[in-house]
Amino acid sequence: MDSSPLLFLSILFLSFPLSFSQKPHALVSPVAKDPSTLQYFAKVYQRTPFVSLNLVMDIGGRYLWVDCDKGYVSSTYRPVRCRSAECSLANSIACGDCFSKPRPGCNNNTCGVFPENSFIRLSTGGELATDVFSLPSTDGYKPGPAATDPHFIFSCGPTSLLEGLARGTTGIIGLGRTKISPPEQLAATFSFQRTFAICLSGSIGFMFFGGGPYVFLPGIDVSKSLIYTPLLVNPVSTAGTSVNGEKSAEYFIGVKSIKINEKPVKLNQSLLSINKKGFGGTKISTVNPYTLLESSIYKAVLGAFAIALSKVKQVAPVAPFGLCFDAKSIGSTRVGPGVPAIDLVLQSENIYWRIFGANSMVAVSDNVLCLGFVDAGTNPMTSIVIGGHQLEDNFLVFDQARSRLGFSSSLLFRQTTCSNFNYTT
Ligand SMILES: *[C@@H]1O[C@H](CO)[C@@H](O)[C@H](O)[C@H]1NC(C)=O
Ligand SMILES: *[C@@H]1O[C@H](CO)[C@@H](O)[C@H](O)[C@H]1NC(C)=O
Repeated sequence: MDSSPLLFLSILFLSFPLSFSQKPHALVSPVAKDPSTLQYFAKVYQRTPFVSLNLVMDIGGRYLWVDCDKGYVSSTYRPVRCRSAECSLANSIACGDCFSKPRPGCNNNTCGVFPENSFIRLSTGGELATDVFSLPSTDGYKPGPAATDPHFIFSCGPTSLLEGLARGTTGIIGLGRTKISPPEQLAATFSFQRTFAICLSGSIGFMFFGGGPYVFLPGIDVSKSLIYTPLLVNPVSTAGTSVNGEKSAEYFIGVKSIKINEKPVKLNQSLLSINKKGFGGTKISTVNPYTLLESSIYKAVLGAFAIALSKVKQVAPVAPFGLCFDAKSIGSTRVGPGVPAIDLVLQSENIYWRIFGANSMVAVSDNVLCLGFVDAGTNPMTSIVIGGHQLEDNFLVFDQARSRLGFSSSLLFRQTTCSNFNYTT
């Protein structure tokens, strides 16, 4: 059953209409979760003739990169020259040469960049290039004709950079805050809103480029009644390699406090803001399957949660988690196991991201439910990293023009899920 999401994606795409849309309003791609790595991957089309690629999603990654060493064949591949306008969009100062026969990923006088695999924290040199890129358009209700960007900028990486990525994937789709990340490029190409949205699922979820509506079955526009919080810029790069003065491409939000059962948890406040060296603060990540908390925050949250749930029998913790319960003594609700709500309080007391049982608890076996947070150690660069499990079945809109994040909290409350976009045509 290991390959079921992959199989599911290929079935979905058998019916994908290869007619073309001139002026799409938005684009859509299904996003599957790989059960063995817990990574999320999207399906996109590239090259001439088109090939479909499964790319692992890194919400804070700087751009899209693919393995060009193995089987890259395309009549529309063009290397980006160094010192060109496209090269400066990528913030590159390097010129690349390649001492071998010319092929995609190996040309002279090209714009050199450093594609990163943030799952294993590895960067290598790579050549910036353009090629045809395509995704289904959408009116927000269902997929429509394919929309094609003829000169989509991406980076080539070597096959070795695929280490640690889900089987069947051939690169990473980075959606971070740069001028060449896919959301920015596609918004410019198709002149649609500088907005993208993700709705992750434990099975098949979706990603959208462009504005709403975003309507999930049974007819619920999940972009209605979102809560908004400013996206913050970390002035110091959090990537493996960076040029001097480069800002982080990752999405940070301003968590001011954490409440459990509406009671504030005592935390060291200075860990919650980003300092001059770029340390501290809260970011959103699809690289980490579970939320990571700096050690002192982790201990405080676990302590407060254990007190709030003191009536339920604890069992021996199962790694990587530190607090587990006898599942039979926890009731179930529409929003998952009936446990105290965890609130990430944002710019004001009445604006918070409420995490319910479906997102806070992980069923490690039939009998054991664990609090799905992981200890990040004592001096992590970022104090709170909101990970995949906490994002699932929550609709998130990244509004780049207004530099704000819109979030829905659990869609289970509205009787839909992130799998419920009507993807069949
Ligand atoms: C790049 O230039 C060098 C030196 O002129 C040459 O040996 C090499 O074959 C060239 N590589 C490519 C990919 O054209
Ligand atoms: C709070 O965190 C900051 C940043 O890590 C640290 O320098 C300081 O010592 C901590 N304060 C306390 C009271 O632990």
